[in-house]
Amino acid sequence: MLRTYIQDLKDVKDGEKVLIKGWAAHIKDLSKVKFVILRDKTGEIQAVAVKDKTPNDKFEEITKIPPESSLSIEGTLKKNKVAKIGYEVVIENFEILNKAETPLPIDTTPKSNTNIDKRIDYRFLDVRRPEIRAIFNIRSAVVRAVTEFFDSEGFTNISTPKITAAGVESGAEMFAVKYFNKEAFLSQSPQIYKQMMVAAGFEKVYEIGTVFRAEKSHTTRHVTEFTGVDMEMGFIKDMGDVMDAVEKLFIHIINYVNKNSTKDLETLKIELTPPKNIPRITMQEAKKLLAGKGKKLSEKEDLDSEAESILGEIIAEKHNSNFVFVTNYPWSIRPFYHMKPEGDNEGTCSFDLIWNGVEIATGAQREHRYDVLKKQAKEKGIDLDSMKEYADIFKFGCPPHGGIGLGLDRMVQRLLKLSNIREAILLPRDPERLTP
Ligand code: 4AD
Ligand code: MG
Repeated sequence: MLRTYIQDLKDVKDGEKVLIKGWAAHIKDLSKVKFVILRDKTGEIQAVAVKDKTPNDKFEEITKIPPESSLSIEGTLKKNKVAKIGYEVVIENFEILNKAETPLPIDTTPKSNTNIDKRIDYRFLDVRRPEIRAIFNIRSAVVRAVTEFFDSEGFTNISTPKITAAGVESGAEMFAVKYFNKEAFLSQSPQIYKQMMVAAGFEKVYEIGTVFRAEKSHTTRHVTEFTGVDMEMGFIKDMGDVMDAVEKLFIHIINYVNKNSTKDLETLKIELTPPKNIPRITMQEAKKLLAGKGKKLSEKEDLDSEAESILGEIIAEKHNSNFVFVTNYPWSIRPFYHMKPEGDNEGTCSFDLIWNGVEIATGAQREHRYDVLKKQAKEKGIDLDSMKEYADIFKFGCPPHGGIGLGLDRMVQRLLKLSNIREAILLPRDPERLTP
């Protein structure tokens, strides 16, 4: 007999024989009837054993099935008004495929109160819970949506080295690795390579890849290894073109998830509304708005997490939007490769995207003119020519271009309103955690 997934039992006729497989989520013993709540990747079903209909030894064995053991059950589908979903499976035979040890190291029931650290120690058991798996099903849908969007907009998907000789992101510390007899670093961003591939003639590229940051921060939004969604586009008019693309991307992602992840959204009790037009305000305007709420920041200061959060509230109230682009960050806090606006030596053609009060992306128009870039690097104390492979990109007709780096994990965290970024990562890495 072929296995039927639990979600497909709804299409099976009353009285038909079925074979189902999964894990024992819960056993209920009412002496003359025994219930096994069986869970597979698609859902849960009540399987019931009735004393006279199940062979006697098998009937008694049910009580001894340890929770989270994997099972194979043969039985008959029976419509039953009393069952939660209107039908159940009457057990005729079953096999324990593999017994789980008892007691379980974490609580896998819906109301689990095991803390997140312990849950991650036993992530493979934690993820058996439908409400945890729903997060990762949706994350998978987000990746599909991102890929679908960029592919349909004519971007080329690229993969760039994660073992690198140098980085260009100021302020993002790198992990050093021994590379035979040389020193190398784990990539802190595909920045150099995506710009290179625009210049290489692809014009529009994107990458979904791992990014490493040796940040010793213990926050609910930082990890040391995250998934970056990076894109770069050539021949842009200005950074507005990049923001237009990002706006379209988010509308697509949310519509896609709404359409394709209905069941998982229901499990998480989340409703999503796509943005319409994402408001764009300059850093100066943002600081004025913040000052109005008592949060004062100097001209050259960055937005801290409190400022981002307050700004999120102001924009939600003022523009009825959960998203906001803050543009024109001060030059003093941006990397050397961000273009400066014409006649404004202290500003940059850059932006951050803030979603529900947290930065999820940083973007900019890049400086593509070699001489100007060299001068800008010097202002930051960098000798551009010491980064020969990067410098060379700008010497052979590199077009005006810009792009963004987006944190996928933070994006999923914001999308599903998760309290900690680690909830959006299957096996997170932070200053304390190197396992599992
Ligand atoms: O803001 P970041 O550092 O910008 C860049 O990497 C530039 N190359 C982007 C560009 O194309 N101009 O990183 C981009 C995004 C952040 O907005 C955030 O969402 C995420 O990556 N991010 C992190 N996510 C989790 N943990 C961390 N430690 C992160 N650091 C950055
Ligand atoms: Mg940033």
